[in-house]
Amino acid sequence: MKTMESVEKYGFVVADVDPTLDLEAEILRLKREKNAVILAHYYQDSEIQDLADYVGDSLGLARQAAQTDAEIILFAGVHFMAETAKILNPNKKVLIPDMNAGCSLSDSCPADVFAEFKARRPDHVVVSYINCSAALKALSDVIVTSSNAVAVVESFPKDQPIIFAPDKNLGAYINKKTGRKMVLWDGACMVHEIFNRKKIEAALRDHPDALLVAHPECEEAVLETAHFIGSTTELLRYVESSPAKTFIVATEPGILHKMRASRPDANLIPAPSNQSCACNNCPHMKLNTLEKVYLTLLYEVPELTMDEDLRLAALKPIERMLELSRGVK
Ligand code: 13P
Ligand code: SF4
Repeated sequence: MKTMESVEKYGFVVADVDPTLDLEAEILRLKREKNAVILAHYYQDSEIQDLADYVGDSLGLARQAAQTDAEIILFAGVHFMAETAKILNPNKKVLIPDMNAGCSLSDSCPADVFAEFKARRPDHVVVSYINCSAALKALSDVIVTSSNAVAVVESFPKDQPIIFAPDKNLGAYINKKTGRKMVLWDGACMVHEIFNRKKIEAALRDHPDALLVAHPECEEAVLETAHFIGSTTELLRYVESSPAKTFIVATEPGILHKMRASRPDANLIPAPSNQSCACNNCPHMKLNTLEKVYLTLLYEVPELTMDEDLRLAALKPIERMLELSRGVK
Protein backbone atom coordinates (compact mmCIF):
# COMPACT_ATOMS: atom_id res chain seq x y z
CA MET A 1 0.00 0.00 0.00
CA LYS A 2 1.48 3.37 -1.03
CA THR A 3 0.93 6.44 1.07
CA MET A 4 3.43 9.27 1.46
CA GLU A 5 5.08 8.93 -1.98
CA SER A 6 1.67 9.07 -3.54
CA VAL A 7 0.85 12.33 -1.78
CA GLU A 8 3.96 13.89 -3.30
CA LYS A 9 3.15 12.55 -6.75
CA TYR A 10 -0.61 13.01 -6.92
CA GLY A 11 -1.41 15.54 -4.20
CA PHE A 12 -3.57 13.05 -2.32
CA VAL A 13 -3.16 9.71 -0.57
CA VAL A 14 -3.32 6.73 -2.90
CA ALA A 15 -4.18 3.57 -1.00
CA ASP A 16 -6.43 0.57 -1.38
CA VAL A 17 -9.67 1.14 0.47
CA ASP A 18 -11.62 -1.93 1.51
CA PRO A 19 -14.80 -1.65 -0.62
CA THR A 20 -16.89 -3.12 2.20
CA LEU A 21 -15.87 -0.32 4.57
CA ASP A 22 -18.63 2.01 5.76
CA LEU A 23 -16.74 5.20 4.88
CA GLU A 24 -19.20 7.53 6.63
CA ALA A 25 -18.93 5.56 9.90
CA GLU A 26 -15.14 5.37 9.61
CA ILE A 27 -14.82 9.11 9.02
CA LEU A 28 -17.02 9.85 12.04
CA ARG A 29 -14.94 7.46 14.16
CA LEU A 30 -11.62 9.00 13.05
CA LYS A 31 -12.97 12.49 13.63
CA ARG A 32 -13.90 11.57 17.22
CA GLU A 33 -10.69 9.69 17.96
CA LYS A 34 -8.41 12.40 16.58
CA ASN A 35 -10.35 15.42 17.84
CA ALA A 36 -10.74 16.58 14.24
CA VAL A 37 -13.28 18.91 12.74
CA ILE A 38 -14.47 18.88 9.12
CA LEU A 39 -15.20 22.29 7.62
CA ALA A 40 -16.88 22.09 4.21
CA HIS A 41 -17.89 24.61 1.58
CA TYR A 42 -21.37 24.45 0.01
CA TYR A 43 -19.80 23.43 -3.31
CA GLN A 44 -18.66 20.08 -1.93
CA ASP A 45 -20.47 16.86 -2.86
CA SER A 46 -23.57 16.33 -0.73
CA GLU A 47 -22.10 13.26 1.01
CA ILE A 48 -19.16 15.36 2.25
CA GLN A 49 -21.46 18.18 3.35
CA ASP A 50 -23.51 15.66 5.35
CA LEU A 51 -20.45 14.53 7.32
CA ALA A 52 -19.10 18.01 8.03
CA ASP A 53 -19.24 19.71 11.42
CA TYR A 54 -19.84 22.99 9.65
CA VAL A 55 -20.88 23.84 6.08
CA GLY A 56 -20.76 27.46 4.99
CA ASP A 57 -19.58 30.26 2.77
CA SER A 58 -16.06 31.69 2.87
CA LEU A 59 -16.81 34.13 5.70
CA GLY A 60 -18.52 31.49 7.84
CA LEU A 61 -15.70 29.04 7.21
CA ALA A 62 -13.03 31.60 8.14
CA ARG A 63 -14.93 32.40 11.34
CA GLN A 64 -15.26 28.71 12.21
CA ALA A 65 -11.56 28.17 11.52
CA ALA A 66 -10.75 31.07 13.84
CA GLN A 67 -12.74 29.66 16.76
CA THR A 68 -12.40 25.87 16.62
CA ASP A 69 -10.64 24.09 19.46
CA ALA A 70 -10.18 20.85 17.51
CA GLU A 71 -6.60 19.65 17.07
CA ILE A 72 -7.03 18.82 13.39
CA ILE A 73 -8.96 20.81 10.79
CA LEU A 74 -9.87 18.84 7.68
CA PHE A 75 -10.81 21.44 5.09
CA ALA A 76 -13.19 20.09 2.47
CA GLY A 77 -12.84 22.94 0.04
CA VAL A 78 -10.04 24.37 -2.08
CA HIS A 79 -6.45 25.32 -1.36
CA PHE A 80 -6.94 29.03 -0.53
CA MET A 81 -9.59 28.06 2.05
CA ALA A 82 -7.31 25.56 3.78
CA GLU A 83 -4.54 28.18 3.65
CA THR A 84 -6.81 30.67 5.41
CA ALA A 85 -7.50 28.08 8.13
CA LYS A 86 -3.74 27.53 8.56
CA ILE A 87 -3.04 31.28 8.68
CA LEU A 88 -5.54 31.52 11.54
CA ASN A 89 -4.34 28.32 13.27
CA PRO A 90 -0.55 27.97 13.10
CA ASN A 91 -0.48 25.33 15.85
CA LYS A 92 -3.19 23.10 14.40
CA LYS A 93 -2.82 20.44 11.77
CA VAL A 94 -4.71 21.55 8.66
CA LEU A 95 -5.47 18.79 6.18
CA ILE A 96 -6.90 19.05 2.67
CA PRO A 97 -8.14 15.90 0.90
CA ASP A 98 -6.54 16.90 -2.41
CA MET A 99 -3.64 19.34 -2.55
CA ASN A 100 -4.45 19.98 -6.25
CA ALA A 101 -7.84 21.51 -5.41
CA GLY A 102 -6.96 25.01 -6.59
CA CYS A 103 -9.09 27.88 -7.87
CA SER A 104 -9.09 29.50 -11.32
CA LEU A 105 -9.82 32.88 -9.75
CA SER A 106 -6.90 32.63 -7.35
CA ASP A 107 -4.65 31.45 -10.19
CA SER A 108 -5.65 34.47 -12.30
CA CYS A 109 -3.65 36.74 -9.99
CA PRO A 110 -0.01 35.69 -9.50
CA ALA A 111 1.44 37.60 -6.53
CA ASP A 112 4.67 38.66 -8.31
CA VAL A 113 2.76 40.21 -11.24
CA PHE A 114 0.31 41.82 -8.85
CA ALA A 115 3.18 43.33 -6.82
CA GLU A 116 4.24 45.34 -9.92
CA PHE A 117 0.63 46.38 -10.57
CA LYS A 118 0.40 47.60 -6.97
CA ALA A 119 3.79 49.39 -7.10
CA ARG A 120 2.50 51.53 -9.98
CA ARG A 121 -0.35 52.77 -7.73
CA PRO A 122 1.38 53.68 -4.44
CA ASP A 123 -1.53 55.81 -3.14
CA HIS A 124 -4.04 52.91 -3.40
CA VAL A 125 -5.04 50.52 -0.65
CA VAL A 126 -5.45 46.89 -1.70
CA VAL A 127 -8.71 45.08 -0.98
CA SER A 128 -8.49 41.42 -1.97
CA TYR A 129 -11.20 38.81 -2.28
CA ILE A 130 -10.46 35.82 -0.04
CA ASN A 131 -10.25 33.65 -3.19
CA CYS A 132 -6.52 34.31 -3.59
CA SER A 133 -3.18 32.88 -2.48
CA ALA A 134 -1.53 33.61 0.87
CA ALA A 135 1.14 35.52 -1.08
CA LEU A 136 -1.52 37.84 -2.51
CA LYS A 137 -3.14 38.23 0.92
CA ALA A 138 0.27 39.30 2.22
CA LEU A 139 0.25 42.15 -0.34
CA SER A 140 -3.24 43.28 0.72
CA ASP A 141 -4.50 45.77 3.29
CA VAL A 142 -7.74 43.93 3.92
CA ILE A 143 -9.47 40.76 2.74
CA VAL A 144 -13.17 40.49 1.87
CA THR A 145 -15.61 37.72 1.07
CA SER A 146 -18.76 38.08 -1.00
CA SER A 147 -20.73 38.40 2.28
CA ASN A 148 -18.86 41.38 3.68
CA ALA A 149 -17.24 43.06 0.63
CA VAL A 150 -19.63 46.03 0.47
CA ALA A 151 -19.40 46.69 4.23
CA VAL A 152 -15.58 46.47 4.23
CA VAL A 153 -15.16 48.73 1.17
CA GLU A 154 -17.59 51.25 2.71
CA SER A 155 -15.35 51.43 5.78
CA PHE A 156 -12.78 53.38 3.69
CA PRO A 157 -13.26 57.12 3.09
CA LYS A 158 -15.11 57.82 -0.18
CA ASP A 159 -12.03 59.44 -1.75
CA GLN A 160 -9.60 56.61 -0.85
CA PRO A 161 -8.19 55.08 -4.07
CA ILE A 162 -8.61 51.29 -3.95
CA ILE A 163 -7.27 48.37 -5.96
CA PHE A 164 -9.61 45.37 -5.90
CA ALA A 165 -8.25 41.91 -6.75
CA PRO A 166 -8.63 39.35 -8.17
CA ASP A 167 -12.31 39.15 -9.26
CA LYS A 168 -13.34 41.81 -11.78
CA ASN A 169 -17.00 40.73 -11.63
CA LEU A 170 -17.30 41.01 -7.85
CA GLY A 171 -15.27 44.24 -8.05
CA ALA A 172 -17.61 45.75 -10.66
CA TYR A 173 -20.60 44.72 -8.55
CA ILE A 174 -19.12 46.43 -5.44
CA ASN A 175 -18.32 49.54 -7.51
CA LYS A 176 -21.96 49.66 -8.60
CA LYS A 177 -23.29 49.16 -5.04
CA THR A 178 -20.97 51.68 -3.40
CA GLY A 179 -20.47 54.26 -6.18
CA ARG A 180 -16.68 53.73 -5.95
CA LYS A 181 -14.26 53.52 -8.82
CA MET A 182 -11.96 50.81 -7.54
CA VAL A 183 -9.22 49.73 -9.97
CA LEU A 184 -10.03 46.12 -10.83
CA TRP A 185 -7.62 43.27 -11.43
CA ASP A 186 -8.71 41.35 -14.54
CA GLY A 187 -9.49 37.97 -12.94
CA ALA A 188 -12.59 35.78 -12.94
CA CYS A 189 -13.99 32.45 -11.78
CA MET A 190 -14.33 29.86 -14.56
CA VAL A 191 -17.52 28.51 -12.98
CA HIS A 192 -19.42 31.78 -12.64
CA GLU A 193 -18.36 33.17 -16.04
CA ILE A 194 -20.03 30.29 -17.84
CA PHE A 195 -23.67 31.25 -17.21
CA ASN A 196 -25.49 32.38 -20.32
CA ARG A 197 -27.82 35.38 -20.07
CA LYS A 198 -29.89 34.49 -23.15
CA LYS A 199 -30.53 30.96 -21.89
CA ILE A 200 -31.34 32.31 -18.41
CA GLU A 201 -33.84 34.74 -19.92
CA ALA A 202 -35.41 31.87 -21.85
CA ALA A 203 -35.65 29.87 -18.60
CA LEU A 204 -37.32 32.87 -16.91
CA ARG A 205 -39.84 33.02 -19.77
CA ASP A 206 -40.52 29.29 -19.37
CA HIS A 207 -41.02 29.78 -15.61
CA PRO A 208 -42.65 33.22 -15.31
CA ASP A 209 -42.95 32.93 -11.50
CA ALA A 210 -39.30 32.00 -11.02
CA LEU A 211 -36.77 34.20 -9.25
CA LEU A 212 -33.17 34.32 -10.43
CA VAL A 213 -30.65 34.26 -7.58
CA ALA A 214 -27.03 34.86 -8.53
CA HIS A 215 -23.57 34.96 -6.98
CA PRO A 216 -21.67 38.25 -7.52
CA GLU A 217 -18.84 36.35 -9.23
CA CYS A 218 -21.23 36.14 -12.25
CA GLU A 219 -20.80 38.57 -15.13
CA GLU A 220 -22.72 41.85 -15.10
CA ALA A 221 -25.01 40.65 -17.92
CA VAL A 222 -26.27 37.87 -15.63
CA LEU A 223 -26.38 40.02 -12.47
CA GLU A 224 -28.54 42.61 -14.29
CA THR A 225 -31.28 39.98 -14.68
CA ALA A 226 -31.06 38.69 -11.09
CA HIS A 227 -33.81 39.21 -8.51
CA PHE A 228 -31.30 38.67 -5.71
CA ILE A 229 -27.48 38.75 -5.58
CA GLY A 230 -25.44 37.38 -2.69
CA SER A 231 -22.85 35.00 -1.30
CA THR A 232 -23.73 31.32 -1.12
CA THR A 233 -25.04 31.70 2.44
CA GLU A 234 -27.08 34.75 1.44
CA LEU A 235 -28.54 32.91 -1.56
CA LEU A 236 -29.49 30.00 0.69
CA ARG A 237 -31.14 32.29 3.26
CA TYR A 238 -33.02 34.13 0.51
CA VAL A 239 -34.42 30.90 -0.95
CA GLU A 240 -35.28 29.64 2.56
CA SER A 241 -37.34 32.70 3.41
CA SER A 242 -38.86 33.60 0.03
CA PRO A 243 -42.51 32.71 -0.63
CA ALA A 244 -41.64 31.94 -4.29
CA LYS A 245 -41.84 28.33 -5.45
CA THR A 246 -39.33 28.33 -8.31
CA PHE A 247 -35.74 29.58 -8.31
CA ILE A 248 -33.10 29.66 -11.01
CA VAL A 249 -29.77 29.40 -9.23
CA ALA A 250 -26.70 31.01 -10.82
CA THR A 251 -23.85 29.61 -8.77
CA GLU A 252 -22.10 26.26 -8.37
CA PRO A 253 -24.82 23.58 -8.05
CA GLY A 254 -23.38 22.10 -4.81
CA ILE A 255 -25.48 24.75 -3.01
CA LEU A 256 -28.65 22.99 -4.21
CA HIS A 257 -28.13 20.26 -1.59
CA LYS A 258 -28.85 22.60 1.34
CA MET A 259 -31.47 24.52 -0.65
CA ARG A 260 -33.37 21.29 -1.35
CA ALA A 261 -33.17 20.31 2.33
CA SER A 262 -34.72 23.57 3.50
CA ARG A 263 -37.13 24.06 0.56
CA PRO A 264 -38.26 20.54 -0.45
CA ASP A 265 -41.42 22.14 -1.90
CA ALA A 266 -39.50 24.42 -4.30
CA ASN A 267 -38.43 23.84 -7.89
CA LEU A 268 -34.70 24.64 -7.88
CA ILE A 269 -33.27 25.00 -11.37
CA PRO A 270 -29.50 25.29 -11.97
CA ALA A 271 -28.89 28.28 -14.24
CA PRO A 272 -28.05 27.19 -17.80
CA SER A 273 -24.49 27.65 -19.00
CA ASN A 274 -22.84 28.40 -22.35
CA GLN A 275 -22.29 24.72 -22.95
CA SER A 276 -24.55 21.70 -22.75
CA CYS A 277 -22.32 19.92 -20.20
CA ALA A 278 -22.50 20.30 -16.43
CA CYS A 279 -19.56 22.74 -16.61
CA ASN A 280 -20.92 24.89 -13.80
CA ASN A 281 -19.60 22.23 -11.39
CA CYS A 282 -16.35 23.58 -9.93
CA PRO A 283 -13.72 21.06 -11.07
CA HIS A 284 -11.46 22.06 -8.16
CA MET A 285 -14.06 21.66 -5.42
CA LYS A 286 -15.16 18.37 -6.94
CA LEU A 287 -11.65 16.85 -6.64
CA ASN A 288 -12.51 16.05 -3.03
CA THR A 289 -14.23 12.70 -2.55
CA LEU A 290 -15.46 10.75 0.45
CA GLU A 291 -12.66 8.24 -0.09
CA LYS A 292 -10.03 11.01 -0.05
CA VAL A 293 -11.58 12.51 3.10
CA TYR A 294 -11.29 9.11 4.78
CA LEU A 295 -7.67 8.52 3.72
CA THR A 296 -6.67 12.07 4.65
CA LEU A 297 -8.05 11.66 8.16
CA LEU A 298 -6.55 8.19 8.51
CA TYR A 299 -2.98 9.12 7.44
CA GLU A 300 -3.15 12.84 8.34
CA VAL A 301 -1.81 13.87 4.94
CA PRO A 302 -1.78 15.96 2.78
CA GLU A 303 -1.03 18.55 5.41
CA LEU A 304 -0.95 22.24 4.59
CA THR A 305 2.13 23.96 5.96
CA MET A 306 3.26 27.55 5.58
CA ASP A 307 6.31 29.73 5.98
CA GLU A 308 5.87 31.72 9.22
CA ASP A 309 6.78 35.14 7.74
CA LEU A 310 4.26 34.64 4.95
CA ARG A 311 1.64 33.50 7.46
CA LEU A 312 2.11 36.56 9.66
CA ALA A 313 1.94 38.90 6.66
CA ALA A 314 -1.26 37.23 5.39
CA LEU A 315 -2.81 37.15 8.87
CA LYS A 316 -3.00 40.94 9.25
CA PRO A 317 -5.51 41.63 6.42
CA ILE A 318 -7.61 38.60 7.43
CA GLU A 319 -7.82 39.81 11.03
CA ARG A 320 -8.75 43.25 9.76
CA MET A 321 -11.57 41.68 7.73
CA LEU A 322 -12.87 39.70 10.72
CA GLU A 323 -12.78 42.88 12.82
CA LEU A 324 -14.51 45.07 10.19
CA SER A 325 -17.23 42.52 9.48
CA ARG A 326 -18.27 41.70 13.03
CA GLY A 327 -21.78 42.96 12.32
CA VAL A 328 -22.17 40.93 9.09
CA LYS A 329 -24.33 37.84 9.59
P1 13P B 1 -18.87 32.21 -1.01
O1 13P B 1 -19.32 30.85 -0.58
O2 13P B 1 -18.14 32.93 0.06
O3 13P B 1 -20.03 32.99 -1.55
O4 13P B 1 -17.81 32.00 -2.19
C1 13P B 1 -18.13 31.34 -3.36
C2 13P B 1 -16.97 30.73 -4.02
O5 13P B 1 -16.78 30.80 -5.21
C3 13P B 1 -16.04 30.02 -3.21
O6 13P B 1 -15.03 29.55 -4.00
FE1 SF4 C 1 -12.52 29.15 -7.46
FE2 SF4 C 1 -14.72 29.53 -8.85
FE3 SF4 C 1 -14.19 27.09 -7.93
FE4 SF4 C 1 -14.89 29.07 -6.23
S1 SF4 C 1 -16.16 28.15 -7.81
S2 SF4 C 1 -13.20 27.61 -5.99
S3 SF4 C 1 -13.98 30.85 -7.24
S4 SF4 C 1 -12.99 28.23 -9.45
